[in-house]
Amino acid sequence: MSEISYMSKASLQRVRVLLGMTGGIAAYKAAELVRRLRDAGAEVRVVMTESAGRFVTALTFQALSGNPVRSSLWDEGAEAAMGHIELARWAEEVLIAPASADTIARLAQGRADDLLSTLVLASSAPLSVAPAMNQQMWAHPATRANIDLLRQRGVRVLGPASGSQACGDVGDGRMLEPDDIVQGLLQARGPRPLDGLSVLVSAGPTYEDIDPVRFIGNRSSGRMGFAIAAAAIQAGARVRLVAGPVSLPTPAGAERIDVRSARQMRDAVVACAADSDIFISAAAVGDYRPQTVSPAKLKKSGNALALELVQNPDILAELAAMPAHPFLVGFAAETNDLEHYAREKLERKGLDLIAANQVGEELGFECSENALLLLWPGGRDELGKADKGVLATALVERIARLHAAARDGQARA
Ligand code: PMT
Repeated sequence: MSEISYMSKASLQRVRVLLGMTGGIAAYKAAELVRRLRDAGAEVRVVMTESAGRFVTALTFQALSGNPVRSSLWDEGAEAAMGHIELARWAEEVLIAPASADTIARLAQGRADDLLSTLVLASSAPLSVAPAMNQQMWAHPATRANIDLLRQRGVRVLGPASGSQACGDVGDGRMLEPDDIVQGLLQARGPRPLDGLSVLVSAGPTYEDIDPVRFIGNRSSGRMGFAIAAAAIQAGARVRLVAGPVSLPTPAGAERIDVRSARQMRDAVVACAADSDIFISAAAVGDYRPQTVSPAKLKKSGNALALELVQNPDILAELAAMPAHPFLVGFAAETNDLEHYAREKLERKGLDLIAANQVGEELGFECSENALLLLWPGGRDELGKADKGVLATALVERIARLHAAARDGQARA
């Protein structure tokens, strides 16, 4: 299994970090985090929510950061000079660690009813969150949706880690270790692996019309492709996202092109291909469409209805046949013999990398988690079951490395 291991050459030397702490047992680790941030050269100011103050004391963080700790929006002394706005402008990085489920929900809603949430809204600094909560709370669909929304807005989500929890449960939800949080921050600030590259992503299903009210579609929600688009933006790329009919918010910074049918998706992808460095085809493209689309609603006749289907263009294969084509990443959605069919698609479609996922009951389609088997000529890796956002980050990192190696190889040839 691979890990996200992109080491950064960036530094936090003299970077002004506003550390927001929220209520959770992991607050005790934030003391070590302040030390590690300062060791890395950062200047740190701490803001605690009221609940954080029930776990640790402001005095500890004042001593460790060397700055007064603030916790109230109604601090008359500090607010005489609009202290929260001054603090929001001061910050070059906002890091919330630990970030509780409640805080994540409040950030997703854009609330501004305490000092920390107000600062987040008032600051233009990049925001990172290190979630910490019980594994059931992390897995809850409400938390999943809130995290997805934050990621779409460009918020960096650092962790969580997996393992035994203070409540006795075992699973995802532990706050990352302080060193890993600092490393995540350094990585996010460093030279990004897709800087200067143009990435084209397709996502979601296609709909093939039968008549004005009916269509042939599939269960793709678009989540995997949208998470990849968000991860590629975080990695520094210009991203164009060709989206089938899905109801997801556009990742911050992506240029979105909405389409409905496979042929529309093909036209949009081909139009963007020439000036794309990488194409990631996460869409579940309909292989067939009705030969004719009835202009009027088909009526029930009492007999069986036969629909004649014709094949749709294979978008990936068409791009692979172009003389100068982008680096091609396909997906394989399989219900059985995953590796066998994925390898066959990798070779038949002439791809640089294929990400294979098992689909079926609560797997691959629609849900917020997935697991990927990555295959490329001469290589193989497995990304175990995880949130689609986490997988997208790891996949984009692998793509960046393989693309760089291919580019270097071409330059030498
Ligand atoms: O959207 P979600 O709910 O998050 O679900 C994610 C997903 C399961 C849809 C995604 O992870 C995935 O597997 N997408 C590809 C699904 C698919 O169509 O697989 P396939 O094995 O049928 O196609 C192989 C590859 O060829 C895919 O990259 C596909 O985009 C591409 N293709 C397929 C048909 C076609 N006519 N043209 C194509 O380019």
